[in-house]
Amino acid sequence: MKRGVRLINRRFLILGLIAILLGIAGLICLGYASWGNWGMVSPRGMMGSKNMMGSRGMNEMMNIMMRDYSKSSYSSNGERIFLTGENDKGETISNSMMPSGGHMGQMMRMGCANCHKASGKGGLLFPDGKTKSANITWEHLQDHDPPYTENSLKKAITKGIEPDGEKLSNFMPRWEMSQDDLDDLIKYLKSL
Ligand code: HEC
Repeated sequence: MKRGVRLINRRFLILGLIAILLGIAGLICLGYASWGNWGMVSPRGMMGSKNMMGSRGMNEMMNIMMRDYSKSSYSSNGERIFLTGENDKGETISNSMMPSGGHMGQMMRMGCANCHKASGKGGLLFPDGKTKSANITWEHLQDHDPPYTENSLKKAITKGIEPDGEKLSNFMPRWEMSQDDLDDLIKYLKSL
């Protein structure tokens, strides 16, 4: 009996989580539609188009958010932040896309790897059907024009601004990170 109740509770929890994830994925799409600078957003275009709310874009977004790169131990604070969005004090790093704090923040946390892959090479396609996550290995960031410096990289991570002053897509979250965490993260990016 007790076991049965627990199973039912678990099922509700999972259903609830899926509903929340779908809601957040929807909000991200809506947010992008209203912030983004692409001309022709009509309600029909949004719901009907394969790229936005259509199953493909949705699946990609779900995959991105559900993937768990956590490990039992990390080589550095930077690696832990990169893979999980959590630092070695166990704090979830706030960003503009996901809730942080509490159980919810813990469950929803994601690291750079969720979008840029564990290799840092990126290449995931986002629900608008055209934005791809960038290659953020240090080597590749040096090919950027102008090349990234540690300072401009910090600006991209925290403010979403590229070295030439261009704004990054809103699919790239803005991160509220301490200087120490930023330094550790950049050190890790350099090792990729
Ligand atoms: C939810 C997905 C997502 C997460 C999580 C994410 N990024 Fe991004 N990031 C993107 C996308 C998409 C772009 C490309 C934006 C564009 O093209 O305007 C990007 C671009 C970047 C760029 C700019 C690269 C360039 O070529 O100018 C840097 C740097 C970057 N991300 C670093 C990070 C770091 C560090 C983290 C972890 C703290 C992170 N990102 C987490 C989606 C994400």
